[in-house]
Amino acid sequence: MAPMTDPPADEGIFHYQYGDDVPAEVQKYWAQRDTIFSEYSRGIWMTNDAWFGITPEPVANAISEHVSDGAPKEKKIIIDAFAGAGGNAIAFALSGRWEQVFAIEKDPAVLKCAKHNAEIYGVEKKIWWYEGDCFEVLRTHLARTKDAIIYASPPWGGPGYREDNVFNLKTMEPYNLDTIYTAFAKVTKDIVLYLPRTSNLNQLVKYTTEGKKLEVAHYCLKGASKAICVYFGDFTFGPKDDDETIDETADGAAEGNGVSHLE
Ligand SMILES: C[S@@+](CC[C@H](N)C(=O)[O-])C[C@H]1O[C@@H](n2cnc3c(N)ncnc32)[C@H](O)[C@@H]1O
Repeated sequence: MAPMTDPPADEGIFHYQYGDDVPAEVQKYWAQRDTIFSEYSRGIWMTNDAWFGITPEPVANAISEHVSDGAPKEKKIIIDAFAGAGGNAIAFALSGRWEQVFAIEKDPAVLKCAKHNAEIYGVEKKIWWYEGDCFEVLRTHLARTKDAIIYASPPWGGPGYREDNVFNLKTMEPYNLDTIYTAFAKVTKDIVLYLPRTSNLNQLVKYTTEGKKLEVAHYCLKGASKAICVYFGDFTFGPKDDDETIDETADGAAEGNGVSHLE
């Protein structure tokens, strides 16, 4: 078990124990800290920004299970391109499904949190860490990793993310759907993207592999959809009890819950 160590606050890394220390914009996330990380109290480290993008542990575990089940069996490597504070990379490493888990994060302080958090979960040494720009790292270090799949939870910036009923993936910032898909598909077509639950599904269809269906899953926490994952490439999912067909509204936003298929 990793000993509880003090976070380097001078690098913008914190473990908030008491509500009074928590900045206002982080309060609502910190209130859910034990859901976000079940081991939070053992000394999880976060930067203030990392709270906004973290994948809560129950969602990360559900995604990890789906990725493990659905990925082509010969794929033995998983690359988490936007690793953040480690929410997904830790779940992938804990699953035991992968011979190698690579985690790329460009912010050094956030990467330091991810490594420390992985240590708390006992998987720090099961993950190969890269500090840098994922597009660069994929091109220079991982381009020939053909037996890999790529998982990516990119930042969800851009106009209308919070207000619009349907999120436009063409104007997502700082990287739009096409930038991400085109760069990653040079390494592998087996890509999982974690995107806003309001993502315009019609914009995803053009990336469907010929003769295949694109799998889309909603991930919910406490009854509310948090996000979707889109499974590109050769993912296959057997029928499960919670499968259902997504009803697309006229303007393309997804409603419903579970794994669905787009053609
Ligand atoms: C939504 S967060 C990912 C959260 C992560 N899934 C988790 O559970 O902790 C996106 C992360 O991508 C990082 N990032 C943004 N652009 C990047 C790039 N070009 N290469 C690598 N990391 C990047 C950000 O610093 C941020 O930590």
